[in-house]
Amino acid sequence: MRVAQRFAVVTGASGGIGRAVAERLAAADCRLLLVGRDPDRLAAVARSTGGEVLVADLADAGDVAALAARLADPDEAPDLLVNNAGVGAVGPAADVDGADLDRLLTVNLRTPVLLTRAVLPAMTARGCGHLVFVSSIAAVLGVAGESAYAAVKAGLHVFAASLRAEVAAAGVGVSTVVPGVVDTDFFVRRGAPYARRFPRPIPPERVAAVLVRAVERDQAEVVVPAWLRVPVAVRSLAPTTYHRLAERWGGDG
Ligand SMILES: NC(=O)c1ccc[n+]([C@@H]2O[C@H](COP(=O)([O-])OP(=O)(O)OC[C@H]3O[C@@H](n4cnc5c(N)ncnc54)[C@H](OP(=O)(O)O)[C@@H]3O)[C@@H](O)[C@H]2O)c1
Repeated sequence: MRVAQRFAVVTGASGGIGRAVAERLAAADCRLLLVGRDPDRLAAVARSTGGEVLVADLADAGDVAALAARLADPDEAPDLLVNNAGVGAVGPAADVDGADLDRLLTVNLRTPVLLTRAVLPAMTARGCGHLVFVSSIAAVLGVAGESAYAAVKAGLHVFAASLRAEVAAAGVGVSTVVPGVVDTDFFVRRGAPYARRFPRPIPPERVAAVLVRAVERDQAEVVVPAWLRVPVAVRSLAPTTYHRLAERWGGDG
């Protein structure tokens, strides 16, 4: 789907990848609804993109229901929904806390599923629309110390793949974006700054460019940076070998 002059909803638009996506879509003359919690940071993005701000906590059932109701209105339904908002968590699997797990599941998986359900009827009725899910390389490879985050993102990943097969005939596209390590506040916010030398974090603008291209080309899944497809392929073809190498080299993201 060409993105020019479409109406796009971007969750997690107040910073990082979401902000970069909003700015790229604004450059294509899109009308934007910018969703996040931080009104000041959202206002800054609104100034640079001309988008409308919607302050909503995507971990809060009431806020999510209100947003879903708005997006389900055929007059308010977007052409493009970018499910980008996400939170991380770090620590050994044995220490996973129930409250953290609930937050991870809600923001990273439950809310995108509910927002998708809200926008699908209008998209299928129009025979046009596109949904994007921002997953993580952790969802594909698994990362020591990030098991809960990786598992939740893997759920999102498989939801998106299943959805793509389900809605293709209705003219609705679905893309999964699989970033590696991206230079955003994500790591600090999860409580553990990114400390490894390799792989080096990439700028969020690079992820945004790949994401928008995936929409325009209706790509099912894009990995950014592209070289990460090599470990993904090794993991798929030779999982034991992959895990031996990963134990030696470690991982993050
Ligand atoms: N950075 C990486 O290396 C990396 C790698 C792989 C995947 N990802 C994924 O990429 C996506 C974007 O992350 P990022 O790197 O751009 O991190 P970020 O800078 O921390 O941005 C996260 C965004 O999600 C929003 N958000 C978080 N919790 C929310 C909530 N409860 N309600 C509403 N909005 C919420 C934040 O908005 P507010 O602050 O306004 O609430 C913020 O705009 C996430 O899904 C993340 O899992 C990131």
